[in-house]
Amino acid sequence: MENWELLAFAEDVARGAGAILRRSYGRQQKIHFKGEIDLVTEVDRESEKYIIGRIREAFPDHGILSEESPERTSPSPYRWIVDPLDGTTNYAHGYPCFCVSVGVERDGKMAAGAVYDPLLDEMFTATPGSGAFRNGERIGVSTIPDLRKSLLATGFAYDVKVAADNNFDYFRAFVFTGQAIRRDGSAALDLCYVACGRFDGFWELKLRPWDTAAGFLILREAGGVVTRLDGGRYDIHQPDILASNGRVHDRMIEVLRGAKK
Ligand code: IPD
Ligand code: CA
Ligand code: CA
Repeated sequence: MENWELLAFAEDVARGAGAILRRSYGRQQKIHFKGEIDLVTEVDRESEKYIIGRIREAFPDHGILSEESPERTSPSPYRWIVDPLDGTTNYAHGYPCFCVSVGVERDGKMAAGAVYDPLLDEMFTATPGSGAFRNGERIGVSTIPDLRKSLLATGFAYDVKVAADNNFDYFRAFVFTGQAIRRDGSAALDLCYVACGRFDGFWELKLRPWDTAAGFLILREAGGVVTRLDGGRYDIHQPDILASNGRVHDRMIEVLRGAKK
């Protein structure tokens, strides 16, 4: 299958799931707690059911890794990596920052990615080697070369109240070295916002493949740089990620290193 065919499908499915999220947005949600602060709503599940149903119908032999279900493994070279609602805490509180993330890999390499924000009706897409797009228009990272003028984003994992590696040291270090920091609650959108120049850098510690699969490809295709926090090679199975416009990347690594001393 061609990458553009996979992308067309990913986009269509992300749009359909986005419509489900939009429809129930702002209504009281039935919430189930997976941990003290880690929650899942009925809408996460409804969105996931729709996406998995569509994938199974179109590609019965493909593998599927989606946040709220056990992985569906398969000998097929294709595997869909899905976050049916990224930003679920925001969603449950009626804070308008969340999305659907649908990525697909072939032989372990990302072949297409779509991240859809149903409230702003923004569709971020990419396939390898063809650039990144928002609603069909090409996007690129910012050209800001100076960390002191950079708007940064981060997030805190669900174990933030109990874990020693809670990101506070890094957050503090960037408060003093960046221009400002946002914590918006959707890692997939954070990556897309770096991709289109709204943010200049983003880092986070304990993300999962479904948070980053599509956004990682979109950001790379937009000319961004993605590594681990220490500058090492990133892939979606690594928990920590440092993503930037490229120009402030080395300085961000320096700050992260300094914060640990
Ligand atoms: C979460 C969001 C958030 C990040 C968390 C993720 P979810 O995903 O991406 O920005 O800080 O680590 O788990 O639970 O809303 O799909
Ligand atoms: Ca997520
Ligand atoms: Ca989710």
